[in-house]
Amino acid sequence: MAQNTSPAVMAQRIEPHDSLDYFPTPPWAVRALCEHLDTWGSIGAASCWEPACGSGDMVRALKGYFGEVAGSDVHDYGGPDQDEVADFLFPALPALADGWPAGAPDWIITNPPFRLAEAFALRALDLAGEGVALLVRTSFLEGVGRHERLFARFPPEWILQFTERVPMVKGRLDGGASTATAYCWIVWVQPCPSGSGRAPRHPTHFPAFRWLPPCRRRLERPGDYPEA
Ligand SMILES: C[S@@+](CC[C@H](N)C(=O)[O-])C[C@H]1O[C@@H](n2cnc3c(N)ncnc32)[C@H](O)[C@@H]1O
Repeated sequence: MAQNTSPAVMAQRIEPHDSLDYFPTPPWAVRALCEHLDTWGSIGAASCWEPACGSGDMVRALKGYFGEVAGSDVHDYGGPDQDEVADFLFPALPALADGWPAGAPDWIITNPPFRLAEAFALRALDLAGEGVALLVRTSFLEGVGRHERLFARFPPEWILQFTERVPMVKGRLDGGASTATAYCWIVWVQPCPSGSGRAPRHPTHFPAFRWLPPCRRRLERPGDYPEA
């Protein structure tokens, strides 16, 4: 039987409940976020935690921009960019990189397992000192319950919608893949103490919507994809 790959069907892909939902992120999509953050404020001295790092494809791209980056995942993928095996939703914090600031990093950035994305957002917002960025299917923006529990309580700073598709396939990074699913970055900037020079976020804050212009070709690097 022919597989139905219509956009409506692809956006509803259901993973088994016990699936790790391992869909590695092409590094260019991470660089697009980092370029945006870099134009907003310096991230070169900031620390960043990728708490669902898989084989570390996102970690490697983040290391090109952030001062310090650590990666963890609930499953041991055995890669050199995974510092710890840890469940991000477990209350205790893992011991991350040497010299990691006690408590929380400045930024938490990941492409979370889709079925746990809301829980990841709430946990990350609880921990990160500066900001949180999650790469999600654009359909994650929908939903009355999710709006009540997440977006209305914690309005994001930016929604960065890719104009290009970001192809992600299960279990491997594939530079030749295609997808019918739309993705965006949702970025939260943490409220700041008064006097810090940045306006605190307010519950009536409206996120800024930006399109990420085509950038894949410019942001891909040799070695981003495994040899065929
Ligand atoms: C969509 S993949 C993204 C992998 C990686 N962030 C990337 O972008 O290349 C989701 C990842 O979440 C991990 N994961 C699932 N549940 C988790 C949990 N409770 N805590 C930490 N990691 C988890 C999976 O093992 C998988 O590597």
